[in-house]
Amino acid sequence: MNIAVIGCGYVGLVSGTCLAALGHQVTGVDVDTKRVAALQAGKVPIYEPGLSEMILQQTAARRLGFTTDLPAAVRDSQVIFVAVGTPPSPNGGYDLSMLFGAVENIIQSAESGKTIVIKSTVPPGTGEKVAQLAAKSAHRLEVVNNPEFLREGTAIHDFMNPDRIVFGAGTAEGLAVLREIYQPLIDKGFHILSMGRASAELSKFGANAMLAMRISFINELSRLASAVGADIESVRMGIGSDPRIGPAFLKAGIGYGGSCFPKDVAALVHQMESLDIEPHLLSGIEKANQQQRQHFVTRVLDAVAGGGKPVIALWGLAFKPDTDDIRESPAVDIARMLAKAGCTVRAFDPEAMENTRRVLGDAIVYATDVHAATTGADAVIVATDWSVFITQNWHGIKQIMRGTHIFDGRNCLASGKVSAAGLHYHAVGRPPVKPGGGREGTVGVVVAG
Ligand SMILES: NC(=O)c1ccc[n+]([C@@H]2O[C@H](COP(=O)([O-])OP(=O)(O)OC[C@H]3O[C@@H](n4cnc5c(N)ncnc54)[C@H](O)[C@@H]3O)[C@@H](O)[C@H]2O)c1
Repeated sequence: MNIAVIGCGYVGLVSGTCLAALGHQVTGVDVDTKRVAALQAGKVPIYEPGLSEMILQQTAARRLGFTTDLPAAVRDSQVIFVAVGTPPSPNGGYDLSMLFGAVENIIQSAESGKTIVIKSTVPPGTGEKVAQLAAKSAHRLEVVNNPEFLREGTAIHDFMNPDRIVFGAGTAEGLAVLREIYQPLIDKGFHILSMGRASAELSKFGANAMLAMRISFINELSRLASAVGADIESVRMGIGSDPRIGPAFLKAGIGYGGSCFPKDVAALVHQMESLDIEPHLLSGIEKANQQQRQHFVTRVLDAVAGGGKPVIALWGLAFKPDTDDIRESPAVDIARMLAKAGCTVRAFDPEAMENTRRVLGDAIVYATDVHAATTGADAVIVATDWSVFITQNWHGIKQIMRGTHIFDGRNCLASGKVSAAGLHYHAVGRPPVKPGGGREGTVGVVVAG
């Protein structure tokens, strides 16, 4: 099938490339001329494991191409996926201007028989508005929702091995088109969940809010764990081994970030309030998330207080490992807070340096590697759990540092190895460990770090 994918960002690029790998003829469209020129030259503007190689394969096989010419791509395609950004608006809702801008352009160029697939995350009711716009066109166009559940860092695997493929279709024709597109995945036994448009939209929002809520829940509990001398790593096992609960997304740390959870939670709260439904639970999720990082920064500042200007090595800037995405990243926020508090922040991230430089400018120092960031530092913060940080030689780290404090913002380090190197280990919701020592204040800890 000939498919146009409007928007060549994290979702559009991955979806378009995977659709090409499923055998479709795909044209990626973007308004960003530099981005399209780079893609046409075989350069991939984002970091996602395996994506560059896959794009090269699909372009070489002539199943994938890129253009800025939306009308031509729409004319040549039977199905048009919309994967443009839907950023937060200042009032807490969604800014849907890019989405409706793209939809209007599509409608102007589309002839009867084409299907518009909304891949972007949109508030419930948006698909219906798009369908109403399409109904005003002289041509008969289908509009269906197909929210995306991929995760950055494992996006290709997630697209090709989906937990579920959600279809929100107004008509049987719309549903049939989506089935045809995803037939290779349906044949492999992956689940299709077909439902109404608003249900599909709310499923995506609900899933993200649920995951964010679990993170904020365990983070809030981690504060209590610290106060009463419990170890949140043991507690999360005690909770998560109940099959009704499960262990996923119950890891304490500096909180969630990314382009999805913060804005989706805020948009749900906004939409509920606008409908006079009190979001008792939802309104606390982001508040807890923000407090978590502030509390963490306070602990770091307390540990390094008393000397001269503190030097902090910040390991990690991306909102999670295996991506260069820093949107709403807690690490970037922590860098900002530490710099504002008068610290010298020396940061290193394997992939997110350029993106961070664009946002933070010269507020922090950009190190060439982990060691350059750490030499002479009073404290190290692990803000993103890249494996390159987890596998460091702590004796070597101790030798180049000025101070001795390691702050594990992702509870990802082996505390015993850190303390054996003569360093203080501080995690989130776990008792601290002194240099050379076992855990302080805990007896019979089930999970040894
Ligand atoms: N990033 C994720 O992990 C993820 C996962 C699931 C769903 N989503 C949702 O998918 C959507 C896209 O997210 P993203 O992270 O890929 O965004 P992104 O910002 O990385 O990419 C969006 C792209 O759309 C382009 N664009 C904007 N207006 C356009 C127009 N009129 N015509 C053509 N191109 C246009 C932009 O130039 C940009 O390249 C959002 O609604 C997001 O919430 C994102």
